[in-house]
Amino acid sequence: MCSVLQRGVPSRIVVLASGNGSNFEAIVNAVRSGELSAKIEMLLVDRDCYAIERAKRLKVPWEKLEKSWAESLKKRLEELNPDLVVLAGFMRILPAEIVERWKWKIVNIHPSLLPAFPGTHAIEKAYEYGVKVTGITIHFVDEGVDTGPIIFQKAIEIKKDWTLERLEEEIHKIEHQYYPLVIQKVLEGRWNIEGRRVILEEDIG
Ligand code: GRF
Repeated sequence: MCSVLQRGVPSRIVVLASGNGSNFEAIVNAVRSGELSAKIEMLLVDRDCYAIERAKRLKVPWEKLEKSWAESLKKRLEELNPDLVVLAGFMRILPAEIVERWKWKIVNIHPSLLPAFPGTHAIEKAYEYGVKVTGITIHFVDEGVDTGPIIFQKAIEIKKDWTLERLEEEIHKIEHQYYPLVIQKVLEGRWNIEGRRVILEEDIG
């Protein structure tokens, strides 16, 4: 795959969120600390949510998509023309047209080891199911729900005394740690695709 990085020009990313926005904030912090070499062009949200408060505090430009969010998103992405679209708790299924247009340029993070527990409430579902190991998955977005080619996964063991709240905390900790690192690798273009297997040139973590 070709690198989207051009010498001296930081890659431009657009983040999409619908909720708390803690991953968005972790990405902003990684950019500011130099861990992630990119410019956050815009936070786009589809509803009123706490991510907006974070964007205001962090002084990152943000916009709420208009009512027909898909049309509005399609238009804004064309105008902003980012190198990468980063889904960070965006609670919508992207229309096939957008997925096709931005193929290999949309990433998502999911709080389970896919293909286990896709969809909403994944942490709770894994906990209630009684799995002993769970984790996070970062993947390219395709037309399905959490079905795109997997870029990175990190597993954690659920200790027997952990509550659901503790598991949520531990999951978010690793999300915040690894999402910026994976975004950096994707932007550097140091990966290849074989079938649906994403091969990173170098391991992460
Ligand atoms: C994260 O757990 C992410 O994996 C999932 O939605 C959650 C978003 O959390 N897709 P936040 O809004 O970034 O705090």
